[in-house]
Amino acid sequence: MNELPASQAYRLLEPGPIVLVTTSQNGKPNIMTMGFHMMIQHAPPLIGCIIGPWDHSYSALRATGECVIAIPTVDLAEVVVDIGNCSGDAVNKFDRFDLTPQPASDVAAPLIKECLANIECRVADTSLVDEYNLFILEAERIWIDAGRKEQRTMHHRGDGSFTADGDVLDLRERMVKWRHLQR
Ligand SMILES: Cc1cc2nc3c(=O)[nH]c(=O)nc-3n(C[C@H](O)[C@H](O)[C@H](O)COP(=O)(O)O)c2cc1C
Repeated sequence: MNELPASQAYRLLEPGPIVLVTTSQNGKPNIMTMGFHMMIQHAPPLIGCIIGPWDHSYSALRATGECVIAIPTVDLAEVVVDIGNCSGDAVNKFDRFDLTPQPASDVAAPLIKECLANIECRVADTSLVDEYNLFILEAERIWIDAGRKEQRTMHHRGDGSFTADGDVLDLRERMVKWRHLQR
């Protein structure tokens, strides 16, 4: 994987792909599925994530303050749903779903080799966790597998059905107010 600037995290997240979140507590890595997330700020890049106390990942994230947001593609669709329907309390999900953990640079949580991209994150603010389960994360590094054949991300419709990325509409010439955001 090649590194992208952490400030570009919004380009991966603004379209709202379903994501996987890895944590690592006491040397035990885990993965959950997450649909509720949003970009909050460009610089430093802040991401809001809803991770509830019903998730094993919640206590790991509170305890360690670190995670990785991994971006899966449509070829992983069934695995993504199944990861969100079992708990790290009971199973080692890397083993069960035959996924490969790779060491991150700055956080103990692992990257997922089979994903298109991985964002290393650190918890920046927990002030809304008690009320909304809303963790504010800062993206620190992004790793992207740009040569990956399947690049279509999945978008959760809220009920276990998904849309897959379709055609790209290139309207960059109309972005007159936002030239600085162009690739
Ligand atoms: C499509 C999908 C989207 C989900 N989105 C979220 C979410 O945004 N926040 C959350 O707390 N749980 C979400 N979940 C539920 C967790 O992934 C699920 O509770 C999982 O078992 C947690 O794993 P863990 O206990 O190993 O942390 C989602 C599940 C699915 C299938």
